[in-house]
Amino acid sequence: MPHRLMPSDVDATYPNAPFKLHQPAIPPALTRSLSLVTSPMSLPVFTITPIAPADTHDLRRRVLRDGDPAAAVVVWPRDDDPATTHYGAKDHTGRILAIGTIYAQPLPDNATDRTLAQGIAAAHQFQFRGMASDAAVRGSGAGSAVLNALIAHAHRHPPALLWCNARVAAIGFYERAGMYIVSDRFDIAGVGPHHVMAVRLT
Ligand SMILES: CC(C)(COP(=O)(O)OP(=O)(O)OC[C@H]1O[C@@H](n2cnc3c(N)ncnc32)[C@H](O)[C@@H]1OP(=O)(O)O)[C@@H](O)C(=O)NCCC(=O)NCCS
Repeated sequence: MPHRLMPSDVDATYPNAPFKLHQPAIPPALTRSLSLVTSPMSLPVFTITPIAPADTHDLRRRVLRDGDPAAAVVVWPRDDDPATTHYGAKDHTGRILAIGTIYAQPLPDNATDRTLAQGIAAAHQFQFRGMASDAAVRGSGAGSAVLNALIAHAHRHPPALLWCNARVAAIGFYERAGMYIVSDRFDIAGVGPHHVMAVRLT
């Protein structure tokens, strides 16, 4: 039975978190600042900012499309929509380490468990996609910081639903953020098996 985020779910462990946290608690890596992530030496490691659509292309191509050089594989519908936001984690040189894209989109019909979306207006249901981090920095928190920004983005419109088409290999990453599998497994041509995953934010 999916757990829904309720006002009582605020986790006292992370009183300054920008959104109400789920049970079990989101690990510390996901609670780092949206604007600045610091190393143990308090030196800036990366910042999270909105980025231009074209700034997603390099990581999309290398991480999500196996280096396919075709322009079309990294230019996606709604990328240039003013209501779409692309987030990037940048290092101190401005190099983009991780990315994710978000826009309002109702939970898709292939989501068989729709309980998380009950009572949430379509305009408050958000899909994110294109979640990727540079293989050289995996495990450093860049991916989590971008996911954190996507969660916070949706949470600015409570009650909100956040969902994605999750690659099977990434399910554990999203589960750590409190997301649930809400669909049967399905294939996206050329990419592989996925499940719809979602979390309700109140
Ligand atoms: C999924 C992805 C974005 C995660 O990015 P990342 O930069 O490695 O994430 P973080 O460094 O913030 O990892 C945070 C924690 O999640 C864990 N984690 C990362 N990917 C995970 C996965 N696929 N399953 C389970 N746990 C995962 C990390 O080990 C780390 O754990 P720790 O805090 O105990 O050390 C990255 O692995 C990636 O780009 N994968 C390939 C593309 C992909 O599958 N994208 C998702 C499309 S739906």
